[in-house]
Amino acid sequence: MRMPTVCTYELARVADAETIANISRWLIEAGLQPTWTAARVAWHIQHPESTVLVAKENARLVGFGIMQFGEHAAHLNLLGVLPARQRHGVGRQLLSWLETTALTAGIVVVTLEVRSTNRGARTFYEALDYTVLDTITGYYEGREDALRLKHDLRIRSSSLPD
Ligand SMILES: CC(C)(COP(=O)(O)OP(=O)(O)OC[C@H]1O[C@@H](n2cnc3c(N)ncnc32)[C@H](O)[C@@H]1OP(=O)(O)O)[C@@H](O)C(=O)NCCC(=O)NCCS
Repeated sequence: MRMPTVCTYELARVADAETIANISRWLIEAGLQPTWTAARVAWHIQHPESTVLVAKENARLVGFGIMQFGEHAAHLNLLGVLPARQRHGVGRQLLSWLETTALTAGIVVVTLEVRSTNRGARTFYEALDYTVLDTITGYYEGREDALRLKHDLRIRSSSLPD
């Protein structure tokens, strides 16, 4: 049986921006021109309409999520967990926190884009009740498609903790 990773979850500080950008570069934007610079992450950390959440294990950042809140929907910009900590429930916890934040703000729809080739993430989101809205051809530098996913938070996931 896999033991859950013992993490603390907290709002990111500007000092976390560089680590998040570095991880994003190889974990999420691998093979693409990086767009999530430390400055961009720091902007989201400081912006009132974004939440940047980090998971830390013994003070080491092992996961993060960035959600931006609009008038009608929230957009999950980034979600990542270090490979050694994947499949221990960290991604689920990060997303649950961010979704709860959206609900608290009165937002019931979350959208995101995922690389069409990213089977692991697609299965993760599917397990958490995200459904495919459509495919955006060439979304990534004109050479890789994205799937646009959506979750109506009024449909409660049986996979999320109480
Ligand atoms: C996608 C990602 C964030 C998931 O985080 P995680 O902490 O590993 O996910 P969890 O452990 O919370 O998984 C929850 C459930 O999702 C499903 N799941 C997660 N990863 C999966 C995988 N690679 N293959 C199949 N199912 C998966 C499982 O049902 C899992 O429950 P279980 O472990 O009890 O079976 C993580 O794999 C990751 O960082 N991937 C690389 C970056 C990325 O692709 N980010 C998303 C695009 S922005």
